Amino acid sequence: MVEKIEAVINEMTLEEKASLCSGSHFWYTQPLERLNIPRLMVTDGPHGLRKQPEGSDHLGVHDSVPATCFPSAAGLACTWDRELIAEVGRALGVESQAENVSVLLGPGANIKRSPLCGRNFEYFSEDPYLSTEMAAHHIQGVQSEGVGASLKHFAANNQEHRRMSVDAVIDERTLREIYLASFEGAVKKSQPWTVMSSYNRLNGEYCSEHPVLLTDILREEWGYDGIVVSDWGAVNEREAALAAGLELEMPPGDKSGDDKIVAAVKDGSLPEETLNEAVRRLLKLVYRALENKQEGVTFNEEDHHQLARQVAGDSMVLLKNEDDILPLEKNEDVAVIGSFAKAPRYQGGGSSHVNPTKLDEALNEIKQHTSAGITFAQGFDATTDVIDETLMQEAKEQAEKAEKVVIFAGLPDHYESEAYDRTHLHLPTNQVKLIEEISAITSEVVVILSNGAPVEMPWIHNVKAVLEGYLGGQAVGGAAADVLYGAVNPSGRLAETFPEKLSHTPAHLHFPGEGDKAVYSEGLFVGYRYYDAKEIAPLFPFGHGLSYTTFSYRDLRVSQTEITDQDELDVYVTVKNTGDRAGKEVVQFYVKEVDSPVIRPEKELKQFTKVQLDPGEEKEVKVTLDKRAFAYYDTDRKDWIVASGEFQLLAGHSAANIAEQASVQVTSTVPKSRPVFHRNTTIGDILVDQEAANTFTSYLASLDSDSGLLGAVKTQENRDEMMDAMVQYMPLRALIPFSQGAFNETHLKTLLEELNAYQLSS
Ligand code: BGC
Repeated sequence: MVEKIEAVINEMTLEEKASLCSGSHFWYTQPLERLNIPRLMVTDGPHGLRKQPEGSDHLGVHDSVPATCFPSAAGLACTWDRELIAEVGRALGVESQAENVSVLLGPGANIKRSPLCGRNFEYFSEDPYLSTEMAAHHIQGVQSEGVGASLKHFAANNQEHRRMSVDAVIDERTLREIYLASFEGAVKKSQPWTVMSSYNRLNGEYCSEHPVLLTDILREEWGYDGIVVSDWGAVNEREAALAAGLELEMPPGDKSGDDKIVAAVKDGSLPEETLNEAVRRLLKLVYRALENKQEGVTFNEEDHHQLARQVAGDSMVLLKNEDDILPLEKNEDVAVIGSFAKAPRYQGGGSSHVNPTKLDEALNEIKQHTSAGITFAQGFDATTDVIDETLMQEAKEQAEKAEKVVIFAGLPDHYESEAYDRTHLHLPTNQVKLIEEISAITSEVVVILSNGAPVEMPWIHNVKAVLEGYLGGQAVGGAAADVLYGAVNPSGRLAETFPEKLSHTPAHLHFPGEGDKAVYSEGLFVGYRYYDAKEIAPLFPFGHGLSYTTFSYRDLRVSQTEITDQDELDVYVTVKNTGDRAGKEVVQFYVKEVDSPVIRPEKELKQFTKVQLDPGEEKEVKVTLDKRAFAYYDTDRKDWIVASGEFQLLAGHSAANIAEQASVQVTSTVPKSRPVFHRNTTIGDILVDQEAANTFTSYLASLDSDSGLLGAVKTQENRDEMMDAMVQYMPLRALIPFSQGAFNETHLKTLLEELNAYQLSS
């Protein structure tokens, strides 16, 4: 392929090269007939194909060909099931092949910084490890069918508010450990054919023209070998974007970006080799797609629908189940209430909006599971918040007659979408009122939620069960019925924290920022990292989810109790199904650094596995941890560093329910870097470096005066706590005014030379 690409580039005019750097249409790359370069079709999106035959837009306004609508990422992540996510990816790949689509624009790996972000339904998690694992397997699935994925939106696109202009201001460690880490694993493990740069700015620069992001980190550090495509309309200055590492501008608009590239090459401000390199990568994409193109692919819509049902079932999270009200018995009379039981809320609004091949209705599906009496009342009008007394009255009448009530509640379409954020976490007033009124009539109430992100539940104590369904895709109705009646034992676990209220959330005081600046002041403390640190009990913690059975853990053990940062560590724990139904448990492994030299979260998720167990069965599960599980990003050394010391390994059912723990001693193999000493280095910082401490004390000893503070510094005698602290935090230069002339600028200069002499010798 390499020679072919070089031969084609040699044939191309400057204008032709530039023309490849943007599309030919909203969804197509630029063809070049003269050189037999065809166009490729790219299409949204992460959980279903949105191929528009006519009328193009990036917000799902125009219709698209029918395609399977799988649960959106928020739900997919709750499966914590890598293989299942890959299977969804494969199904999406097959549908793309069938529709001649070469690149599918997804998945999204942005971190859920605040539950208010309108697009959280398209993202996996608040945790970078879970998010990047889910994204990697999604991509592997899609690409295993010969279709490219597009990992988006790179990076720090964590809000919709002012998304095309906002500047995400993020400190380097937080950026590396949280926001970039969510992309890093996916890039390294799955090499997506394309990465989509985001709309926003990051620390002052548009992500579409950010050389550190697109070239230094993505390509050079992470070894990325695909192309970078802009989010639709994300390019600011085309030449700057190309120079920074963005190959493809989409959509092309009037193609004036190409003209700018040509002009920049002609006036010498853009080296032609930069353009050639971009063209090389673009041609590689084209040939890769051609080589992988399969003709005449068809798929069985019903099979894909069944897969969507399985995934939706496995993604549902049983948040609460008092008195084991669920699963429902087949002979119980049930009142099904809520408009979503007939017209489901099953996907989010915007560019990911799919035209489904079919749509399950929960009410019908429930009737397939039982011969008992099932009644229905709409309860509320989903298009408004206004309470409809007639609908309310009907619902109450049905509730009075039934043995149990199942309320289908959730966020209506207009509450959350791409392009804007929520401003609160409430369910609509008419739904809250409905839940309150019904639960005043009977305590036998189950609430099923359809929403893309957490909602507050002030009514939680009035109902016995809550089943979180997220936006479960076209088969969510069937999946809900499967879980309600126990045909599927719920095994979903939350991929994000559900707060009790908005004011408890990590970014509350700074979201969505002021004007075009969003300062990520909470730093590393996103999601459970924040709730742990602040000791705030959430409504439901990260990783939480009940089952119709129960699991116990024992014997957490590690392959070695002492390792270096170059070793891998195997961690084992035995999990037992202690109930009377088969079920699946998600075993979560967190790592906690016992005593860290840097600010670190209490614990962080570093591995997980999902295990299926029959009643009474037990299995030992094993996961492997490597250096990254223990490391933090050292901003001085620009590298991942493990601080030698003790780490605890925690195995748990959720971030708030740790069952077992073990300890390991990790030793860093990276030599400690010695600082450069300067006039403002504190005495305390000198004394912690053994060599420097020796140099310092012998230099001071060589001075024959003890006047002023010098004596106290030299002898360590007659120093109380206050004096100790003063000396410790005193910069070297302060010895001059505090030593009454015994230590002067000349001494300081000599001392610094001696302290820094190690640099000359190394
Ligand atoms: C969205 C992308 C999407 C693109 C094309 C943009 O507005 O942010 O996620 O892939 O449109 O529809």
